Amino acid sequence: MHNPFDYLALVIIFLTQWCLSRQLLKAARRRYSRRAVSLLRAALAAFYILMAAAFSLGISVVADQFNLPAAFEQIAGAVAQIWLFGSTAGYLLYLGWRLLARRVWRSDPDPARRHLIRATGGALMAAPFALVGYGTFVERLRFRVREVDIPIPHLPGDLVGLRLAQVSDIHLSAFLSEKDLARVIDCANGLRPHVALVTGDLITDAGDPLDACLQQLARLRAEGGILACMGNHEYYARLEDYAERQGARLGIRFLRRQAVPLRFGRGVLNVAGVDYQRSGSHYLHDAERLVLPGACNVLLSHNPDVFPVAARQGYDLTVSGHTHGGQVSVEILHQQVNPARFTTPYVYGLYREKAAAYVTRGIGTIGIPARIGAPPEIALLRLRKA
Ligand SMILES: [Fe+2]
Repeated sequence: MHNPFDYLALVIIFLTQWCLSRQLLKAARRRYSRRAVSLLRAALAAFYILMAAAFSLGISVVADQFNLPAAFEQIAGAVAQIWLFGSTAGYLLYLGWRLLARRVWRSDPDPARRHLIRATGGALMAAPFALVGYGTFVERLRFRVREVDIPIPHLPGDLVGLRLAQVSDIHLSAFLSEKDLARVIDCANGLRPHVALVTGDLITDAGDPLDACLQQLARLRAEGGILACMGNHEYYARLEDYAERQGARLGIRFLRRQAVPLRFGRGVLNVAGVDYQRSGSHYLHDAERLVLPGACNVLLSHNPDVFPVAARQGYDLTVSGHTHGGQVSVEILHQQVNPARFTTPYVYGLYREKAAAYVTRGIGTIGIPARIGAPPEIALLRLRKA
Protein backbone atom coordinates (compact mmCIF):
# COMPACT_ATOMS: atom_id res chain seq x y z
CA MET A 1 0.00 0.00 0.00
CA HIS A 2 1.47 3.31 -0.91
CA ASN A 3 -1.22 5.94 -1.38
CA PRO A 4 -3.74 7.58 0.97
CA PHE A 5 -6.64 6.13 -1.04
CA ASP A 6 -5.57 2.58 -0.03
CA TYR A 7 -5.64 3.52 3.67
CA LEU A 8 -9.00 5.26 3.33
CA ALA A 9 -10.44 2.22 1.52
CA LEU A 10 -9.11 -0.04 4.29
CA VAL A 11 -10.75 2.06 7.03
CA ILE A 12 -14.09 2.13 5.14
CA ILE A 13 -13.98 -1.64 4.56
CA PHE A 14 -13.13 -2.29 8.23
CA LEU A 15 -15.96 -0.09 9.52
CA THR A 16 -18.60 -1.47 7.15
CA GLN A 17 -17.63 -5.07 7.92
CA TRP A 18 -17.86 -4.27 11.63
CA CYS A 19 -21.37 -2.78 11.22
CA LEU A 20 -22.50 -5.63 8.96
CA SER A 21 -21.36 -8.25 11.48
CA ARG A 22 -23.11 -6.43 14.33
CA GLN A 23 -26.36 -6.26 12.37
CA LEU A 24 -26.11 -9.90 11.40
CA LEU A 25 -25.60 -10.95 15.03
CA LYS A 26 -28.46 -8.69 16.16
CA ALA A 27 -30.83 -10.30 13.64
CA ALA A 28 -29.62 -13.79 14.64
CA ARG A 29 -30.26 -13.06 18.34
CA ARG A 30 -33.91 -12.34 17.54
CA ARG A 31 -34.44 -15.63 15.72
CA TYR A 32 -32.01 -18.28 16.95
CA SER A 33 -30.85 -19.86 20.20
CA ARG A 34 -27.95 -18.50 22.23
CA ARG A 35 -25.78 -21.46 21.13
CA ALA A 36 -26.44 -20.80 17.44
CA VAL A 37 -25.54 -17.12 17.88
CA SER A 38 -22.27 -18.09 19.64
CA LEU A 39 -21.45 -20.40 16.74
CA LEU A 40 -22.16 -17.64 14.23
CA ARG A 41 -19.96 -15.21 16.20
CA ALA A 42 -17.09 -17.74 16.21
CA ALA A 43 -17.53 -18.36 12.45
CA LEU A 44 -17.44 -14.63 11.73
CA ALA A 45 -14.33 -14.17 13.88
CA ALA A 46 -12.57 -17.06 12.09
CA PHE A 47 -13.57 -15.65 8.70
CA TYR A 48 -12.17 -12.20 9.44
CA ILE A 49 -8.97 -13.57 11.03
CA LEU A 50 -8.39 -15.62 7.86
CA MET A 51 -9.10 -12.59 5.69
CA ALA A 52 -6.75 -10.38 7.69
CA ALA A 53 -3.99 -13.02 7.52
CA ALA A 54 -4.48 -13.53 3.79
CA PHE A 55 -4.44 -9.81 2.99
CA SER A 56 -1.60 -8.82 5.31
CA LEU A 57 0.69 -11.73 4.42
CA GLY A 58 -0.58 -12.05 0.85
CA ILE A 59 -2.79 -14.98 -0.14
CA SER A 60 0.14 -16.48 -2.09
CA VAL A 61 2.23 -16.80 1.11
CA VAL A 62 -0.63 -18.60 2.89
CA ALA A 63 -1.21 -20.84 -0.17
CA ASP A 64 2.53 -21.64 -0.46
CA GLN A 65 2.60 -22.73 3.21
CA PHE A 66 0.01 -25.40 2.43
CA ASN A 67 1.31 -26.13 -1.09
CA LEU A 68 -1.98 -25.21 -2.69
CA PRO A 69 -2.33 -24.89 -6.49
CA ALA A 70 -2.32 -21.44 -8.12
CA ALA A 71 -5.96 -21.86 -9.18
CA PHE A 72 -7.05 -22.31 -5.54
CA GLU A 73 -5.16 -19.21 -4.51
CA GLN A 74 -6.69 -17.16 -7.34
CA ILE A 75 -10.26 -18.35 -6.69
CA ALA A 76 -9.95 -17.84 -2.91
CA GLY A 77 -8.51 -14.36 -3.49
CA ALA A 78 -11.26 -13.47 -5.92
CA VAL A 79 -14.05 -14.68 -3.60
CA ALA A 80 -12.56 -12.73 -0.68
CA GLN A 81 -12.24 -9.54 -2.71
CA ILE A 82 -15.71 -9.87 -4.23
CA TRP A 83 -17.18 -10.26 -0.74
CA LEU A 84 -15.22 -7.41 0.85
CA PHE A 85 -15.72 -4.86 -1.92
CA GLY A 86 -19.24 -6.00 -2.89
CA SER A 87 -20.58 -6.00 0.68
CA THR A 88 -18.86 -2.71 1.50
CA ALA A 89 -20.24 -0.94 -1.57
CA GLY A 90 -23.69 -2.53 -1.05
CA TYR A 91 -23.81 -1.51 2.59
CA LEU A 92 -22.80 2.08 1.82
CA LEU A 93 -25.51 2.29 -0.86
CA TYR A 94 -28.01 0.87 1.61
CA LEU A 95 -27.04 3.40 4.30
CA GLY A 96 -27.32 6.27 1.83
CA TRP A 97 -30.76 5.12 0.72
CA ARG A 98 -31.97 4.69 4.31
CA LEU A 99 -30.81 8.19 5.18
CA LEU A 100 -32.57 9.63 2.14
CA ALA A 101 -35.77 7.65 2.77
CA ARG A 102 -35.91 8.82 6.42
CA ARG A 103 -35.61 12.45 5.38
CA VAL A 104 -38.16 12.29 2.58
CA TRP A 105 -40.77 9.95 4.10
CA ARG A 106 -40.12 10.54 7.81
CA SER A 107 -43.74 10.33 8.90
CA ASP A 108 -45.18 8.21 6.16
CA PRO A 109 -47.23 5.41 7.73
CA ASP A 110 -48.15 3.78 4.42
CA PRO A 111 -47.14 0.09 4.85
CA ALA A 112 -46.89 -0.47 1.08
CA ARG A 113 -44.43 2.39 0.78
CA ARG A 114 -42.45 1.16 3.79
CA HIS A 115 -42.21 -2.24 2.11
CA LEU A 116 -41.02 -0.61 -1.12
CA ILE A 117 -38.35 1.35 0.77
CA ARG A 118 -37.10 -1.85 2.44
CA ALA A 119 -37.10 -3.75 -0.87
CA THR A 120 -35.16 -0.95 -2.57
CA GLY A 121 -32.58 -1.03 0.24
CA GLY A 122 -32.18 -4.79 -0.25
CA ALA A 123 -31.80 -4.38 -4.01
CA LEU A 124 -29.12 -1.70 -3.51
CA MET A 125 -27.19 -4.03 -1.20
CA ALA A 126 -27.25 -6.71 -3.88
CA ALA A 127 -26.45 -4.34 -6.77
CA PRO A 128 -22.61 -4.47 -6.52
CA PHE A 129 -22.71 -8.28 -6.60
CA ALA A 130 -24.96 -8.21 -9.68
CA LEU A 131 -22.54 -5.80 -11.36
CA VAL A 132 -19.57 -8.05 -10.55
CA GLY A 133 -21.58 -11.01 -11.93
CA TYR A 134 -22.08 -9.13 -15.19
CA GLY A 135 -18.39 -8.17 -15.34
CA THR A 136 -17.33 -11.74 -14.63
CA PHE A 137 -19.64 -13.73 -16.85
CA VAL A 138 -20.30 -11.31 -19.72
CA GLU A 139 -17.82 -8.48 -20.17
CA ARG A 140 -14.67 -10.38 -19.10
CA LEU A 141 -14.70 -12.52 -22.24
CA ARG A 142 -16.07 -9.97 -24.69
CA PHE A 143 -12.81 -9.51 -26.60
CA ARG A 144 -12.77 -6.72 -29.14
CA VAL A 145 -10.35 -5.17 -31.60
CA ARG A 146 -9.34 -1.56 -31.04
CA GLU A 147 -7.83 0.03 -34.15
CA VAL A 148 -5.83 3.18 -33.50
CA ASP A 149 -3.93 5.51 -35.81
CA ILE A 150 -0.60 6.49 -34.29
CA PRO A 151 0.67 9.84 -35.59
CA ILE A 152 4.46 9.96 -35.79
CA PRO A 153 6.41 13.01 -37.03
CA HIS A 154 9.00 12.29 -39.74
CA LEU A 155 7.75 8.73 -40.23
CA PRO A 156 9.64 7.15 -43.17
CA GLY A 157 7.28 6.84 -46.16
CA ASP A 158 7.62 3.05 -46.37
CA LEU A 159 6.39 2.72 -42.77
CA VAL A 160 3.17 4.66 -43.32
CA GLY A 161 0.25 2.30 -42.78
CA LEU A 162 2.38 -0.30 -40.98
CA ARG A 163 0.19 -2.42 -38.69
CA LEU A 164 1.31 -3.56 -35.25
CA ALA A 165 -0.94 -5.99 -33.39
CA GLN A 166 -0.59 -5.81 -29.61
CA VAL A 167 -1.63 -8.55 -27.20
CA SER A 168 -0.97 -7.84 -23.53
CA ASP A 169 -1.79 -8.81 -19.94
CA ILE A 170 -3.05 -12.23 -20.87
CA HIS A 171 -2.96 -13.62 -17.32
CA LEU A 172 -3.56 -17.20 -18.44
CA SER A 173 -4.82 -18.57 -15.13
CA ALA A 174 -7.93 -19.89 -13.41
CA PHE A 175 -9.85 -17.02 -15.02
CA LEU A 176 -8.71 -17.25 -18.63
CA SER A 177 -8.69 -20.58 -20.45
CA GLU A 178 -6.35 -21.62 -23.23
CA LYS A 179 -9.39 -21.90 -25.47
CA ASP A 180 -10.25 -18.24 -24.91
CA LEU A 181 -6.65 -17.26 -25.59
CA ALA A 182 -6.75 -19.29 -28.83
CA ARG A 183 -9.74 -17.16 -29.90
CA VAL A 184 -7.72 -14.02 -29.22
CA ILE A 185 -4.75 -15.26 -31.26
CA ASP A 186 -6.99 -16.25 -34.20
CA CYS A 187 -8.55 -12.81 -34.09
CA ALA A 188 -5.13 -11.08 -34.00
CA ASN A 189 -3.97 -13.16 -37.00
CA GLY A 190 -7.09 -12.08 -38.87
CA LEU A 191 -5.84 -8.48 -38.64
CA ARG A 192 -2.81 -9.41 -40.81
CA PRO A 193 -0.31 -7.37 -38.82
CA HIS A 194 3.21 -6.59 -40.02
CA VAL A 195 4.57 -7.09 -36.49
CA ALA A 196 3.07 -8.85 -33.45
CA LEU A 197 3.80 -7.29 -30.07
CA VAL A 198 3.31 -8.91 -26.66
CA THR A 199 3.71 -6.55 -23.71
CA GLY A 200 3.95 -8.80 -20.67
CA ASP A 201 1.93 -10.47 -17.91
CA LEU A 202 1.50 -13.76 -19.72
CA ILE A 203 0.48 -15.39 -16.43
CA THR A 204 -0.52 -14.29 -12.94
CA ASP A 205 1.29 -16.70 -10.58
CA ALA A 206 4.17 -19.16 -10.74
CA GLY A 207 1.83 -22.17 -10.99
CA ASP A 208 -0.01 -20.85 -14.06
CA PRO A 209 0.36 -22.52 -17.49
CA LEU A 210 3.16 -20.39 -18.96
CA ASP A 211 4.11 -23.02 -21.55
CA ALA A 212 0.56 -23.17 -22.88
CA CYS A 213 0.51 -19.39 -23.08
CA LEU A 214 3.79 -19.28 -25.00
CA GLN A 215 2.57 -21.95 -27.39
CA GLN A 216 -0.55 -19.95 -28.16
CA LEU A 217 1.41 -16.71 -28.59
CA ALA A 218 3.79 -18.53 -30.96
CA ARG A 219 0.82 -18.99 -33.31
CA LEU A 220 0.82 -15.25 -34.00
CA ARG A 221 1.67 -14.60 -37.64
CA ALA A 222 3.48 -11.44 -38.76
CA GLU A 223 6.25 -10.90 -41.31
CA GLY A 224 8.29 -8.88 -38.78
CA GLY A 225 7.93 -11.64 -36.17
CA ILE A 226 6.73 -11.75 -32.57
CA LEU A 227 8.47 -9.31 -30.25
CA ALA A 228 7.77 -9.18 -26.53
CA CYS A 229 8.70 -7.69 -23.18
CA MET A 230 8.29 -8.95 -19.62
CA GLY A 231 5.54 -7.89 -17.23
CA ASN A 232 5.55 -7.56 -13.46
CA HIS A 233 3.94 -10.98 -13.05
CA GLU A 234 6.80 -12.75 -14.86
CA TYR A 235 9.10 -10.88 -12.47
CA TYR A 236 7.08 -11.76 -9.33
CA ALA A 237 6.86 -15.41 -10.41
CA ARG A 238 10.62 -15.43 -11.18
CA LEU A 239 9.90 -16.79 -14.63
CA GLU A 240 11.57 -14.17 -16.79
CA ASP A 241 14.58 -16.29 -17.79
CA TYR A 242 12.40 -19.35 -18.39
CA ALA A 243 9.94 -17.37 -20.54
CA GLU A 244 12.83 -15.90 -22.53
CA ARG A 245 14.38 -19.34 -23.18
CA GLN A 246 11.14 -21.14 -24.03
CA GLY A 247 9.92 -18.17 -26.05
CA ALA A 248 13.10 -18.18 -28.16
CA ARG A 249 12.54 -21.87 -28.95
CA LEU A 250 9.03 -21.08 -30.17
CA GLY A 251 9.95 -17.98 -32.16
CA ILE A 252 8.97 -15.31 -29.63
CA ARG A 253 11.75 -12.82 -29.04
CA PHE A 254 11.66 -11.24 -25.59
CA LEU A 255 13.52 -7.95 -25.74
CA ARG A 256 15.35 -7.47 -22.45
CA ARG A 257 17.11 -4.17 -22.90
CA GLN A 258 17.60 -5.14 -26.52
CA ALA A 259 16.41 -3.81 -29.87
CA VAL A 260 15.60 -5.36 -33.23
CA PRO A 261 15.74 -3.20 -36.38
CA LEU A 262 13.10 -4.38 -38.88
CA ARG A 263 13.35 -3.18 -42.47
CA PHE A 264 10.20 -2.49 -44.46
CA GLY A 265 11.15 -1.17 -47.91
CA ARG A 266 13.55 1.68 -47.25
CA GLY A 267 12.20 2.39 -43.77
CA VAL A 268 13.44 0.88 -40.54
CA LEU A 269 11.22 0.14 -37.56
CA ASN A 270 13.49 -0.24 -34.55
CA VAL A 271 11.67 -2.13 -31.79
CA ALA A 272 13.31 -2.05 -28.35
CA GLY A 273 12.08 -3.68 -25.15
CA VAL A 274 12.76 -3.51 -21.43
CA ASP A 275 11.89 -5.69 -18.44
CA TYR A 276 9.23 -4.47 -16.00
CA GLN A 277 10.13 -1.00 -14.73
CA ARG A 278 9.06 -0.78 -11.10
CA SER A 279 6.89 2.26 -10.35
CA GLY A 280 8.91 5.12 -8.93
CA SER A 281 12.25 3.55 -9.86
CA HIS A 282 14.84 5.16 -12.10
CA TYR A 283 13.11 4.44 -15.40
CA LEU A 284 14.78 3.16 -18.57
CA HIS A 285 18.33 3.16 -17.30
CA ASP A 286 20.66 2.96 -20.30
CA ALA A 287 17.77 2.47 -22.78
CA GLU A 288 18.69 5.50 -24.90
CA ARG A 289 21.56 3.51 -26.39
CA LEU A 290 18.93 1.30 -28.09
CA VAL A 291 17.51 4.24 -30.05
CA LEU A 292 18.47 4.08 -33.73
CA PRO A 293 18.87 7.47 -35.45
CA GLY A 294 16.84 7.78 -38.65
CA ALA A 295 14.55 4.86 -37.76
CA CYS A 296 11.08 4.90 -36.25
CA ASN A 297 11.83 3.90 -32.66
CA VAL A 298 9.27 1.88 -30.74
CA LEU A 299 9.68 0.89 -27.08
CA LEU A 300 7.91 -2.06 -25.47
CA SER A 301 7.50 -1.39 -21.75
CA HIS A 302 4.88 -3.15 -19.66
CA ASN A 303 4.63 -0.16 -17.31
CA PRO A 304 3.32 2.93 -19.16
CA ASP A 305 4.75 5.36 -16.58
CA VAL A 306 8.05 5.36 -18.50
CA PHE A 307 6.45 7.32 -21.36
CA PRO A 308 7.86 10.82 -20.62
CA VAL A 309 11.36 9.37 -20.12
CA ALA A 310 11.06 7.28 -23.31
CA ALA A 311 9.97 10.38 -25.25
CA ARG A 312 12.99 12.31 -23.91
CA GLN A 313 15.29 9.46 -24.89
CA GLY A 314 14.06 9.62 -28.49
CA TYR A 315 11.43 6.90 -28.74
CA ASP A 316 8.64 7.82 -31.16
CA LEU A 317 6.15 5.36 -29.71
CA THR A 318 5.88 3.57 -26.35
CA VAL A 319 3.65 0.48 -26.31
CA SER A 320 2.40 -0.59 -22.86
CA GLY A 321 -0.23 -2.47 -20.86
CA HIS A 322 -0.22 -3.16 -17.11
CA THR A 323 -3.27 -1.06 -16.12
CA HIS A 324 -5.95 -3.28 -17.74
CA GLY A 325 -7.62 0.05 -18.51
CA GLY A 326 -8.55 0.11 -14.83
CA GLN A 327 -10.35 -3.26 -15.30
CA VAL A 328 -13.37 -1.72 -13.58
CA SER A 329 -14.05 1.71 -15.00
CA VAL A 330 -17.11 3.88 -14.51
CA GLU A 331 -17.86 7.22 -16.15
CA ILE A 332 -18.88 9.89 -13.62
CA LEU A 333 -19.36 13.50 -14.79
CA HIS A 334 -17.52 12.76 -18.07
CA GLN A 335 -14.54 11.39 -16.11
CA GLN A 336 -13.48 7.77 -16.16
CA VAL A 337 -13.17 6.65 -12.54
CA ASN A 338 -11.19 3.46 -12.00
CA PRO A 339 -8.57 2.07 -9.60
CA ALA A 340 -5.66 2.58 -12.03
CA ARG A 341 -6.22 6.34 -12.04
CA PHE A 342 -4.84 6.47 -8.52
CA THR A 343 -1.54 4.95 -9.59
CA THR A 344 -0.78 6.34 -13.06
CA PRO A 345 -1.84 9.13 -15.41
CA TYR A 346 -1.56 6.67 -18.33
CA VAL A 347 -4.53 4.34 -17.84
CA TYR A 348 -5.83 3.58 -21.31
CA GLY A 349 -5.61 4.66 -24.93
CA LEU A 350 -3.43 6.95 -27.01
CA TYR A 351 -1.33 9.63 -25.31
CA ARG A 352 0.59 12.28 -27.17
CA GLU A 353 3.27 14.59 -25.90
CA LYS A 354 6.49 15.06 -27.84
CA ALA A 355 5.99 11.44 -28.90
CA ALA A 356 3.12 8.93 -28.69
CA ALA A 357 2.21 6.13 -26.30
CA TYR A 358 -0.49 3.51 -26.51
CA VAL A 359 -1.72 1.75 -23.36
CA THR A 360 -3.92 -1.25 -24.00
CA ARG A 361 -6.57 -2.74 -21.74
CA GLY A 362 -5.10 -6.15 -22.44
CA ILE A 363 -6.85 -9.50 -22.34
CA GLY A 364 -7.05 -10.94 -18.83
CA THR A 365 -7.84 -9.92 -15.27
CA ILE A 366 -6.24 -9.91 -11.83
CA GLY A 367 -7.88 -9.85 -8.41
CA ILE A 368 -11.61 -9.76 -9.01
CA PRO A 369 -12.08 -11.65 -12.31
CA ALA A 370 -14.42 -9.03 -13.74
CA ARG A 371 -14.24 -6.26 -16.29
CA ILE A 372 -16.74 -3.45 -16.09
CA GLY A 373 -16.52 -0.57 -18.55
CA ALA A 374 -13.09 -1.78 -19.62
CA PRO A 375 -13.59 -4.73 -21.99
CA PRO A 376 -10.60 -6.84 -23.03
CA GLU A 377 -8.98 -5.87 -26.31
CA ILE A 378 -6.52 -6.73 -29.04
CA ALA A 379 -4.97 -3.46 -30.22
CA LEU A 380 -4.10 -2.78 -33.84
CA LEU A 381 -1.76 0.20 -34.07
CA ARG A 382 -1.49 1.79 -37.52
CA LEU A 383 1.44 4.11 -38.08
CA ARG A 384 0.79 7.34 -39.94
CA LYS A 385 2.59 10.64 -40.45
CA ALA A 386 1.80 13.31 -37.87
FE1 LIG B 1 -1.50 -7.32 -15.96
